[in-house]
Amino acid sequence: MRGRSSFLIVANRLPVDRVGEGTWRRSPGGLVTAIAPVLQRREGAWIGWPGSPDERLDPFDHDGMHLIPVPLSASEVELYYEGFSNATLWPLYHDVVAPPVYSRVLWDAYRTVNERFARAAAEEAAENAVVWIQDYQLQLVPAMLRELRPDLRIGFFLHIPFPPGELFYQLPWRRELLEGLLGADLVGFQRPGGASNFIRLCRRLLGLQHQKNEIHLEDGRVVRAAAFPISVDFGEFDSLVRQPHIVERAKEIRSELGDPECVLLGVDRLDYTKGIGQRLKAFGELLREGSIKPGEAAFVQIATPSRERVEEYMRLRDSIELQVGRINGEQGELGMQPVQYMHQSYGRDELAALYLAADVMVVTPLRDGMNLVAKEYISCRHDLRGALVLSEFAGAADELRQAFLVNPYDIDGLKRAMLAAMRATPHDLSRRMRSLRRRISTYDVDRWAKDFLADLES
Ligand code: ADP
Ligand code: F6P
Repeated sequence: MRGRSSFLIVANRLPVDRVGEGTWRRSPGGLVTAIAPVLQRREGAWIGWPGSPDERLDPFDHDGMHLIPVPLSASEVELYYEGFSNATLWPLYHDVVAPPVYSRVLWDAYRTVNERFARAAAEEAAENAVVWIQDYQLQLVPAMLRELRPDLRIGFFLHIPFPPGELFYQLPWRRELLEGLLGADLVGFQRPGGASNFIRLCRRLLGLQHQKNEIHLEDGRVVRAAAFPISVDFGEFDSLVRQPHIVERAKEIRSELGDPECVLLGVDRLDYTKGIGQRLKAFGELLREGSIKPGEAAFVQIATPSRERVEEYMRLRDSIELQVGRINGEQGELGMQPVQYMHQSYGRDELAALYLAADVMVVTPLRDGMNLVAKEYISCRHDLRGALVLSEFAGAADELRQAFLVNPYDIDGLKRAMLAAMRATPHDLSRRMRSLRRRISTYDVDRWAKDFLADLES
């Protein structure tokens, strides 16, 4: 039987999470930010998990998108999502900044859930449809889907880094994952380095030949691997921050913070890859040694709750909250706390107002596929003010060379970069911001999707 969608997104999560009877909330993370506008502008459907265990829901329409829920049991959430996806693959693909867990039970659940997604896609896709599978949670789906539906055009995009052999070799199921990805016609990565790591591993582990970015399989099929740096909806943020209520809210935020000379901002999922501890350490030291005077600067750290039952995330939360408490306890005064920490998720309007209110955006991941927060900040600064401090280890650093680039492991370097960003002249800031905006307005998320899909369909 053939389904009705000629364009299909397959991702671990739907773009919205169910939070109550008939109530939906945008799901966290960069994948949703990037893919939702792409689907809203095309006819198609999105297959994914509705965000809580044991939800069996019928397909429904939301915000201009047709959504098809795939259920996960409580044990699958634990073993496939929290386990293999986020305690094995996530740390392994992010430079093992936390130790990955290798367990056969987790792997079995990953395979089972990937099979379910492949079957759901096979049922929904029309004859010769284009199916675009997203991210590390679903790396086996391309081959499983091809087996079921050889008529389809299958694309895969990895939103996180793809590691070099030195790390990938640790994985007991390394061959299976490569073979899973090779079910696609096109495998997309954030950076050229990810594509070449993949091509090299296909040669070393599977003995496959390649010419440039084309991998030749034994059955005669050719799979292409290439970089497509993901981006944001520049136009949406650019027009949002021009609205009077956002401008007003940005002013209000600054005054709520006590109108300091400088507002520094961090916006992240609460994840150990984001380098939140490093940036707080740098800020705390700048205060302690007097490089920043009391009341001169406020640091706002917004940290969306994420993967809260995974052990490393619980540990991280404790350590960040301890650190914030220490800085405020030691450096604050009655009624004046240098770090404002919010463990909450915010709506688009509030985020845009925060971006507009911030003089320095501090983005310091230890490793990040791209980092859309950095690109959102740039999209909001049509006033050509504001400085971006950006880690060299974020994919975004390839494109955003005019940012204040830092190595987040080097706390002294981070302190210097934060101070340089705070003290930069308006002329220097506007020169940098103009060039950063030129890049993001040209390579926005629409352009990213068009480039990928044109390559897939060619
Ligand atoms: P990741 O995909 O690892 O979460 P990105 O920086 O690429 O990292 O994307 C994060 C996305 O989530 C951005 O679109 C950002 O606006 C959004 N986001 C991050 N923190 C919050 C928050 N506290 N409230 C609402 N949205 C957030
Ligand atoms: O690419 C980053 C990513 O892991 C997405 O795959 C994911 O949807 C998002 O971050 C948020 O993570 P989670 O779905 O685990 O909450």
